[in-house]
Amino acid sequence: MGDLVLVNRSLTGRRVWVTGGLGFIGSNLALRLLELGAEVTIVDPCVEGCGGNPANLGPHLARCRIISRDIADAEDFAAELAAADVVFNLAGEISHARSQREPMRDLELNTIAQLRFLQVLTRVRPGVRIIYAGTRQVYGRARSLPVNEDHPIRPTDFNGVHKRAAENYHLMLTRMGLLDAVVLRLTNTYGPRLSLDAPGQGFLSVFLKRALLGERIEVFGDGSQLRDPVHVDDVTDAFIRAALAESPPERVFNVGGPEALSLKEIARLTALAAGPTVNITCRQFPADHLAFDIGSYQADTTRIRTLLGWIPRIGFAAGIRATLKWFEEHLAAR
Ligand SMILES: NC(=O)c1ccc[n+]([C@@H]2O[C@H](COP(=O)([O-])OP(=O)(O)OC[C@H]3O[C@@H](n4cnc5c(N)ncnc54)[C@H](O)[C@@H]3O)[C@@H](O)[C@H]2O)c1
Repeated sequence: MGDLVLVNRSLTGRRVWVTGGLGFIGSNLALRLLELGAEVTIVDPCVEGCGGNPANLGPHLARCRIISRDIADAEDFAAELAAADVVFNLAGEISHARSQREPMRDLELNTIAQLRFLQVLTRVRPGVRIIYAGTRQVYGRARSLPVNEDHPIRPTDFNGVHKRAAENYHLMLTRMGLLDAVVLRLTNTYGPRLSLDAPGQGFLSVFLKRALLGERIEVFGDGSQLRDPVHVDDVTDAFIRAALAESPPERVFNVGGPEALSLKEIARLTALAAGPTVNITCRQFPADHLAFDIGSYQADTTRIRTLLGWIPRIGFAAGIRATLKWFEEHLAAR
């Protein structure tokens, strides 16, 4: 509670920017920032195939300034960007499968757009705190679990390579004194406003959609692979802590859920939350997915717990129940 008051005080009246703020995580973050009294500017053109949707902000859309542009076009809104106090940089494409089919598209969205944005930002607002949404995909197949931030970087797909380049831009520019960046390497995130329609949003989106429709949930492989799903409210808390931390001695942090569960267990808990009609089956991995599958993953979150005081508070069973309830109540309005 003490923490919350401190956070609230610190962001009140601050001019915060959220790139990708109409998407799943970005919109949840923008809503939380409004609650905390920040002035929120969002840059998001709702890129085709991504999870952006103005309806994610519901009645609060009008309380944000929306710039419907690609971050690559930052030169066109440079004067406004110069006034940013904090930048939450979540713009990006998350589909691993699509990055394999269309690597140039993924490069444009996840790397070139980021470089163009950062070139403008460092000119008009040098030294600004920026929190970049990185991904656990950069580690590739884990050597052992849990995975800490010093694990070798060996991405299994173009998305991981391109996201790695973007995180490196942030870190290099910080070493040069031109930015004040923190990178959060996110694990699989779920919760309200997760896109159920955009393709390639990951297995949690597919499981949720199937559960809501009362359809069978299919698990790839034998379902024994581990994941540590994290609720979006915990993720937004990590972003806010990263924004407020004064000169953190480390700049890269894993963000993972409170428990490692097998995919089969994740499917079982999702089905259980949905009701008795939802069954689960295992099926062979589609060959194109198998090529970039990372096997089991669990984040070691010691660093973010120790340095930013963050802990994931929402267990999967309770989190997925609340998420299904949210979708049942809001699906018609989306
Ligand atoms: N969801 C996860 O499990 C997860 C895991 C690891 C990392 N991430 C990262 O978190 C960020 C947010 O992911 P999400 O799940 O909310 O995805 P999302 O698709 O719901 O949201 C991403 C948003 O970014 C916007 N966008 C994409 N390219 C852009 C560009 N060049 N300029 C401006 N806007 C652009 C899209 O229109 C979309 O609204 C991404 O950078 C993603 O790589 C997400």
